[in-house]
Amino acid sequence: KLKYVDSIGVLLESLSSLPQVRIADPASMAAKMRQMVAAGNKKLLVISDFDFTLSRYANESGERLSTTHGVFDDNAARVDPELGKKFDELRMKYYPIEFDPKLTVEEKIPHMEAWWGTSHGYIVQSGFTRAMIEDFVRKSRVVLRDGASELMQSMEAVGTPLVIFSAGIGNVIEIFLRQKLGSVPRNVHFISNMILFDSNDKACAFSEPLIHTFCKNSSVIQKEASFFHQIAGRSNVILMGDSMGDIHMDVGVEKDGPTLRIGFYNGDVNDEASLDHYMAAYDIVLVHDSTMNVPQRIFDLVS
Ligand code: C5P
Repeated sequence: KLKYVDSIGVLLESLSSLPQVRIADPASMAAKMRQMVAAGNKKLLVISDFDFTLSRYANESGERLSTTHGVFDDNAARVDPELGKKFDELRMKYYPIEFDPKLTVEEKIPHMEAWWGTSHGYIVQSGFTRAMIEDFVRKSRVVLRDGASELMQSMEAVGTPLVIFSAGIGNVIEIFLRQKLGSVPRNVHFISNMILFDSNDKACAFSEPLIHTFCKNSSVIQKEASFFHQIAGRSNVILMGDSMGDIHMDVGVEKDGPTLRIGFYNGDVNDEASLDHYMAAYDIVLVHDSTMNVPQRIFDLVS
């Protein structure tokens, strides 16, 4: 135990000295890590967002990369310029609302429902086939964060379940992981919007209930009750997200242990108010970090 306590202290000190790391309350973070280390790997569960958390926000030149919905924005214009324009208009209208600091979550929700609902409607109307979607994903600008595949592999190696909880499109993530890693790691469980296909393999509907940025909590997880029951012994959670909508992804997990929240901040570094907001919600905030190095070091210590 003493060795563990020492290594938590050493790790925290070393993380705190990194320029991209912000920790509001190191003592509270250390206490959570001590509990996790003492309970061991059998008690551990990882819940992660996908878009701009497991995937990268920007490329080396600072250009914004794609979300899983963006896979359709990127490619729709190629196969159907009119549809491409419609997707662009939706994003220009609703993306600023999603991140508007002056609006409350309640005010944002109807807009998010309209955004997701309309874009899902377009995807279904287009009648894209599974093969076309696989091609879209292959040509898309979705990129894994550096070290994300290694982190997923280490979770699989020690048998830690990884819940990918995404308001994006689950099939797109599945196809993407298969293309990048050869297969979806066995420890991965998806909670996401799923495209349903008809007997001709054409997109015909989306799964219910709709998951958008601001309903990533138990109201959505209810249909996942049997999965969460299966892993009920896992009461310590590492949660990774990039938005304020991600911080309640552990609600609905049957647990009495701590949740260690790792937040990726992809916003304006000079916006101190937003950064403070993230620091209050997440135990550790990584500012414009395109890698999984810090989560990997934390996982290695507590797993
Ligand atoms: O929860 P997650 O980070 O995976 O959320 C998906 C993201 O997809 C949202 O933050 C939103 O900005 C984006 N989105 C999009 N196109 C849509 C709907 C959502 O790019 N049609």
